[in-house]
Formats: sequence, C-alpha cells, structure tokens
Amino acid sequence: MAKILYTGINQLVESQDPDSSLLDISLQNQIPHLHECGGNGRCTTCRIRVIEGHQNMSPRTAIERETAHLRRWDPSIRLACQSHINGDVKIQRLVWASAEVNKLQLETIPDGEAELRSIATIFCDMRDFTRITSQHMHYDLAHMLNRFYTVLGDPILMNNGIIYQYVGDEIIGIFGTSGGSREKNCQDAVRAALGMQYAIERLNRFELKDFDTKFRIGIGINFGRAFVGHLGHPKHRQFTVLGDPINVASRIQGCTKEAGATILISNSILKSLPKDSLKIGKSFSKQLAGKDFETELFEVTGFTKPDMNLELQSSLDLILQNEERFAMRFYENVFVKAPGVRALFKNDMAAQGRLLTHMLGGIVYSLSRPEYLVMGLKALGKSHERYGVRPEYYPVVEEVLLETIREELGDMYTPELGEAWKQALHFITEQMTNWKAEKQTEHAGA
Ligand code: HEM
Ligand code: FES
Repeated sequence: MAKILYTGINQLVESQDPDSSLLDISLQNQIPHLHECGGNGRCTTCRIRVIEGHQNMSPRTAIERETAHLRRWDPSIRLACQSHINGDVKIQRLVWASAEVNKLQLETIPDGEAELRSIATIFCDMRDFTRITSQHMHYDLAHMLNRFYTVLGDPILMNNGIIYQYVGDEIIGIFGTSGGSREKNCQDAVRAALGMQYAIERLNRFELKDFDTKFRIGIGINFGRAFVGHLGHPKHRQFTVLGDPINVASRIQGCTKEAGATILISNSILKSLPKDSLKIGKSFSKQLAGKDFETELFEVTGFTKPDMNLELQSSLDLILQNEERFAMRFYENVFVKAPGVRALFKNDMAAQGRLLTHMLGGIVYSLSRPEYLVMGLKALGKSHERYGVRPEYYPVVEEVLLETIREELGDMYTPELGEAWKQALHFITEQMTNWKAEKQTEHAGA
C-alpha cells in the first residue's frame, strides 16, 4: 500500500491499486484536482510537484516527456494523469483554479527571443479615473478597484485570453498567444469585451450603489501580427508583446469617449468574423495618431444571435455565488425525482457537491478550449459508467440542474439564459454518453 500526502490541504490518502494514476487517486478520494483534458496528457492542468518520494514515481510517458521538454520542466514537475506510484510520495497540486489555466500557454513561448504571432488585443480603460480617485477614501477606492479589475479580468480569462498588463486604469488582454484560428481569436476578444461591458453594468447596479459611483469603460479591439516573447534583462525577463497592432488597439480605445461608444473594433476584427454575426452601431473613419491614413472603426453592441458561451460566462458567478447551497438544492431535487440513484453516491455528499460545482465552473472556463473540454467530458462519462450511472439517469439530472440554475438566478433569469444553459447541459451529457456509441462504430468499422 502506498501513502500520498497532499501538501497545501495536508491530506493523507492511501492507495492499493498500482493501476490508478495519481489523478485517479485524487478523484477517488474526492480531492479537487483540475484535469481539463480528462487525463489524456494534453492540457497539463493536472500537473503536480513531487516533493518527496521521486524514486517511487513511474518514469515519464512519451507524451509527458514531450510536454516536459517543451515547457522546460524540472524533473520534480509531473503530470498526475500520467504518473503511477509504487511507494509513498508527498505532492503539491500546482494549478488550483480554472482562471489560472490560460497563463500556462506562456510556458510555450521562447525565452530571450520574440516570435511573430497573430493576436487580437483588447484595451479597456476606466473613464473619469482621476475624478473617481479624488472622490473616495483610499480604503473604499482599493475595494472598488479590486472589484473592477476582477470583474473585467474574468471575461478575458474565460475566453482563453491572457491579462497582459494593468497600466494605471487600463487593462490589456491578448488572445491567440498559443495559436488558434484568426476567427476564433477575434471572436474570443469580442466576446470578452461584451462580457466586460455586462460585468461593469452589474457591478454598478449591485455593488457600487452604496458608494454612489458608477464605473464607465471604453474598449478598443484590434487584430494583427505582433512580436511575443519573454524579453528583458537575463535575470528579469518579462512576457512582452510588441508591435503596431497593439498600439493601434490602444488608439482605438482612445476614440471611444468621443464616439460615445463602449466598444470599438477595427476592420481587421470585423472581417475576421462571419458576416453579419455582430450588431454594429455607429461606424466611422478616423485618422489615428501616427497613421497617415484613416482607419475604419465600428461600434459593437452585441452578437446578432444569442451566444451560448457569453450567456453562460456572464451568469456563472450568479449561479455559483453560494456553491454549497447550489449543490445541496441540486442533490435534494435529484433524490426526490429519482430516489433510486441515492445508493450510487457512496462518499461524502458535501465533498461531492464541491466537485460538481468545481466541474461546472471549469466547464464554462473550458468552453473556449473545446478540444480539451470534449476529451474531459468523455473521460467523465467513462467514470460515470464505473459509478453505475445508467444513460436514462442523464435526462433527469439535466432537468434538475436546469431547475436549480433557474432558482439560483432568481430575478436575473431570462429565457436566453435558460436556453443557453439547456443547450450547454445537453452538450455536456451528450459528450458524457456518446463515447460508447463512438466506440461501437469504431469496432464495427475495424
Ligand atoms: C451534467 C452532468 C454531470 C456532471 C457535470 C457530473 C459531475 C460529477 C463529478 C465532477 C463527479 C466527481 C467524480 C469525478 O470527477 O469523476 C461526479 C461523481 C458522481 N456522479 Fe456525476 N455528473 C453528472 C451527471 C451525473 C448523473 C446523470 C448521475 C446519475 C445519477 C451522476 C452520479 C454520480 C455519482 C454516483 C458519482 C460518484 C459519487 C461518489 O463517489 O460517491 N452524475 N459527478
Ligand atoms: S494533462 Fe493530465 S488531465 Fe490533462
């Protein structure tokens, strides 16, 4: 029998099964452990640091060797889904929250040199920052600014973007540092901008009412090739993005106030997206500083069709504002509707609730990385078969999850939100169940 000590939570667990990976052992013991690609060695979110017991770890698999080489990991960093143990180990999970996942992209960017990459850039500026700072006490201001940066940062992180910098009252987000199609990177950036607009409206309405303040923002978005790299003094290299498209995004942002628009995009963004997919308000041409020609700018007020990802992203924090209550309501309702499934739950229900809400939140963050999400959901479906979950239980769970989401949203519920969550839950359960049909088709074809 091997013992695994998880530092951080200081939990000791035991494993008898040499075929279980370290990730399997975490899940069997209800320890939250991110595993976006479902244990396929692709996403690196399950990474751990082995603190003691290196000699008891299995050698790296081929896929792990490749990842470790690309990301220049030292030997103590391992993928939990690719590692087995034959003795005691002490480990530390390295990625704790879905919001941290995008940053992992930066490890694939070379040190000391810059590469040209096609990226979409968002510049978001707080209007009247000086007036706001002069009107509030430092303590209140720090609180408000922290909330401001959080609610504006989340939409960047949920759309596979990286928060590149805070410059005073400005946030800069970039999309596409690890590749991805031009359309996807631009769509991610526009969705993030719309998410930011929505988040600020909500912050003003609910949280800043008592401070008698309203934040207003201006956002400029541009697409183009820029140099991306870790540059600087050899002892202090920083992730850096350089190039004209970045400066242009900043200047586009500078036009928002005068134009009376919250979000302005360049033609390079507009033409990257499917025709007529954006609601465009004003459009005009402007000579931006440093340019000897006019640039066409377009105000974006929304997507023409409801966007499932945007709806889900902008309602997630409302739904999970009290995760424990959400999980409790959900399981109570499931057991009323399908009393037979109660017996399948053999472990602690409070911990199970945390795993469920952790997974739902993780799914919303992974929507912008669909290739990993699908792998992860198939793996989740396979483990559900092992838990004794039969296909006919899925529609019940889907229905109850939807009801619970509606209850948690309360007054904020809209038919568009309901439809987006319905579509999403259907997609999730379809991926969790259809791996079997795919397997049968593969066998039939072989
Ligand atoms: C939207 C679909 C679902 C999601 C996102 C989901 C999520 C999860 C998660 C995250 C776990 C923790 C263990 C792991 O990660 O493997 C889990 C365990 C489990 N789920 Fe689900 N689940 C879903 C559907 C269902 C359905 C339809 C049932 C049937 C009643 C079910 C029954 C169980 C059981 C029995 C366990 C193991 C509990 C234990 O260890 O005591 N789940 N689920
Ligand atoms: S790499 Fe281990 S779960 Fe994705």
